[in-house]
Amino acid sequence: MRFPTLLFALLTVLDPASLVHGERILIGNDDGWAVAAIRAQFNILAETGFDVILSCPAINLSGTGSLSAPPTIVIIPCEFGTCPILSPAEGFNASDPRLNYVNSFPVDAVNYGINTLAPELFGGPPDFVVSGPNVGNNLEVLFTSGTIGAASAAAKAGIPSAAFSGSSDSLSQVSYTTLDSDPSSTNSIASNIYSILTLKFLDTLLSDLHPPPILPAGTSLNVNYPSIANCTNEADFQFVLTRVVADASATDVETCGTTHLPAEADVVALEGCFASVSVFDASTLGDVDAATQGAVLSRLVDLLRCAPVS
Ligand SMILES: *[C@@H]1O[C@H](CO)[C@@H](O)[C@H](O)[C@H]1NC(C)=O
Ligand SMILES: *[C@@H]1O[C@H](CO)[C@@H](O)[C@H](O)[C@H]1NC(C)=O
Ligand SMILES: *[C@@H]1O[C@H](CO)[C@@H](O)[C@H](O)[C@H]1NC(C)=O
Repeated sequence: MRFPTLLFALLTVLDPASLVHGERILIGNDDGWAVAAIRAQFNILAETGFDVILSCPAINLSGTGSLSAPPTIVIIPCEFGTCPILSPAEGFNASDPRLNYVNSFPVDAVNYGINTLAPELFGGPPDFVVSGPNVGNNLEVLFTSGTIGAASAAAKAGIPSAAFSGSSDSLSQVSYTTLDSDPSSTNSIASNIYSILTLKFLDTLLSDLHPPPILPAGTSLNVNYPSIANCTNEADFQFVLTRVVADASATDVETCGTTHLPAEADVVALEGCFASVSVFDASTLGDVDAATQGAVLSRLVDLLRCAPVS
């Protein structure tokens, strides 16, 4: 589980043919541009050949949902002292201009990435927006989450997106520098495992074996990873199609022998290592109809598994 097993892990989880990526990915979050979880995600996508831009809030803005305001000059230093007071409203790492902060909300950071950074650095729009992994799961109640807000903003701008969140048992809001200074900490190990899971997820979702669109218009995905306490290897995890809110009266897409998808909170709480995947409406942040779930199911069918019946 310790890295350099990273490369080995990649070779085992991924079909070698798919190691050639190249899709243009914009990364956002709400925990801020310098937390370990988001930098681990950036690093692994960049290392595996994706074209990546990170555009995240300058500070921790967890819990700010879909709030939005024009970015302003920095008056509170960027998190972990990564930029001083009076820095510009938007800034980047001088050694790596792919790493950007925006001194405003998660939604504004992702919109800046789509409208300003992507044309400059990609020469066009991103193919996909990865929001997170967030520090802490986002289950059932989605409107407070800035990570969900950022994913929704992308979907509304016509860019397919997904929000990813890892258990707060395993992740905390620590600086990206701890990935190197304390690689055997739970946070560093979890950041790396969750990043590999997101890579594996994208590998299926973005596969060009399926015709476009990647996701139905106006929808996004909410993916939640359980604690790594009993799941010490990325190969232990299985993805399960879920719904945001439990609803016994709803008729969902038929899968695993039923037309009732399990609720995401129930799946993440199961014993074992089950990651939930819910399709949500980017405007209402609620569940979508069976046909829309079905479009996602058919795209992810090779990846999805059935949850044990509880
Ligand atoms: C980040 O913000 C959230 C929401 O205000 C808060 O609960 C959390 O403690 C903050 N994290 C840090 C490291 O200050
Ligand atoms: C900026 O990038 C350099 C080179 O990758 C890295 O050493 C440094 O820690 C980064 N700083 C921030 C705040 O991202
Ligand atoms: C890990 O497994 C033990 C034993 O089954 C269980 O008591 C504990 O709750 C599990 N921890 C998590 C975080 O799932």
